[in-house]
Amino acid sequence: MKITLVSASPAELSVDALAVPVVTGQKLGAAALDLDRAMGGVLSEMIANAEFRGRVHEVLPIPAQGRVAARRVILYGLGALHDLDGQRLRSAHHELVRASRTWGYRRMAVLSCEPLGPDSLKAVVEGCVLGTFERRSRQTGQAPERREIDELMLAGFGTGREWEVIAAQENGEATNRAREWQNAPANELTPDALAQEATRIAQRHNLEIEVLGPGELKSGGYNLLLGVGAGSSKPPRLIRVRYHGNHGIHSSLAGEGGPARSAGPAGSGPSANRADTVLALIGKGITFDTGGISLKIPENMSRMKDDMSGAAAVLSAIDVIASRKLPLDVMAIIAAAENMPGPAAQRPGDVVVSADGKTVEVVNTDAEGRLVLADALTHALRNGATHMVDVATLTGAATVAIGHAASAAISNDDEFWSLVEQASREAGDRVWRLPMYADYRILLRSQVADLRNSEYGEAGTIMGGMFIAEFAGGKPWAHIDIAASAWNTNLELTTVLRGPSGAGTRLCIELAELMAGAER
Ligand code: BES
Ligand code: ZN
Ligand code: MN
Repeated sequence: MKITLVSASPAELSVDALAVPVVTGQKLGAAALDLDRAMGGVLSEMIANAEFRGRVHEVLPIPAQGRVAARRVILYGLGALHDLDGQRLRSAHHELVRASRTWGYRRMAVLSCEPLGPDSLKAVVEGCVLGTFERRSRQTGQAPERREIDELMLAGFGTGREWEVIAAQENGEATNRAREWQNAPANELTPDALAQEATRIAQRHNLEIEVLGPGELKSGGYNLLLGVGAGSSKPPRLIRVRYHGNHGIHSSLAGEGGPARSAGPAGSGPSANRADTVLALIGKGITFDTGGISLKIPENMSRMKDDMSGAAAVLSAIDVIASRKLPLDVMAIIAAAENMPGPAAQRPGDVVVSADGKTVEVVNTDAEGRLVLADALTHALRNGATHMVDVATLTGAATVAIGHAASAAISNDDEFWSLVEQASREAGDRVWRLPMYADYRILLRSQVADLRNSEYGEAGTIMGGMFIAEFAGGKPWAHIDIAASAWNTNLELTTVLRGPSGAGTRLCIELAELMAGAER
């Protein structure tokens, strides 16, 4: 999809469809009113009659009948202003593009989004690109239901903002790539296949890449990851892609504001600056989660091919971070394994020594995410991480706590968290922080080991995160539980992207941008 900024009057755009955003309860903006006049007042009439209310995801095509150059004018809703955040705004544009593709429009224009104005450019582009996503069909001889949009013109967003459009398009495409990986069946996307995807990305950008297999994992002491992978015929992989963005940035220079302003990454004291920051983006890459010996019931197992959604997010993110040459050191670490109940599988009650030396009682083999992430955090620290974010489909309890409309999170550092939260807002990729009260720590205690990997009990999402926190080495860390947000299965929750969402992808990109202090 080619995306361009145009300055022509909307009525003169000769496109298949010209889309006009409407906020519930708000009058049309100036450009939309011009268009309304050219259309003989039909737009404002339909709004006044409440035939079109501007609800989010409401999309209505109106034949233009030669009154403007476009063949159709589309009214599409953004909902009420006070409900409108970055995620809903993207979702509204996702829906606009999906509907337009169903109707077969190939050339489209979108009017600047009133009353948000030109500031909404990034969200509009990202949302529209999300709407181009189509799960790759593995059906033979099936004609595609929706067509592609060849060209998208953006009217009323100003000009000279091409680089913003390009960046937003990249963000949207990266999210879609993560969605594609999420959707890939587990017999295709194995731990080794994930490693190959990472290798391809590393080669494309000339990045350092390291893939540890069983032999190296054993000598590195990554027994938690090995234990989770033990029941599968497909060996686990610990994948690390390292992007060096700090070349030529000297601590003193960056400390004084440097060429790009120093972001002063949070939580590591006043001497910290961009030049000695290494951000680790850590993804849970369980390519299928049967639960292991603590086997899941079929209803809970059917969708577990997406238990590598965190890996998809961080991999897609580092692809963009590297291609954008951000002035920040970033690594993506993926703990990849298949959680299967094979003959060599670990058992409930096993005690395993983690890479950092803590002993862990595996009470439940289905709480495998925190196990592989614990070793992944140790790996990040061994490789110089100063700040860590893990992205993981960790707990079913996240759906109970907060549902599919946001990711649940916890963090050990308020300053770092405020950066993550800012990234979330700017990326339209929601996170909501849960508390990490010290009182809960007792629930991680084991009678036989340093820690247990938890049981079903209270505060499931918090407990999962607090287990991982034990391995953060006191460094600023945030945990993003995308178990619910990665894949909306609730058909009633219609205004949240259905199916794979790529949750966490744009959050990671945005966080790196903020920490790099890149001009925006
Ligand atoms: N991958 C699951 C979490 C999950 C559940 C993701 C539903 C998406 C949808 C995770 O490995 C898991 O099984 N967690 C357990 C933890 C429990 C045994 C402490 C859970 O949430 O039930
Ligand atoms: Zn899992
Ligand atoms: Mn599990």
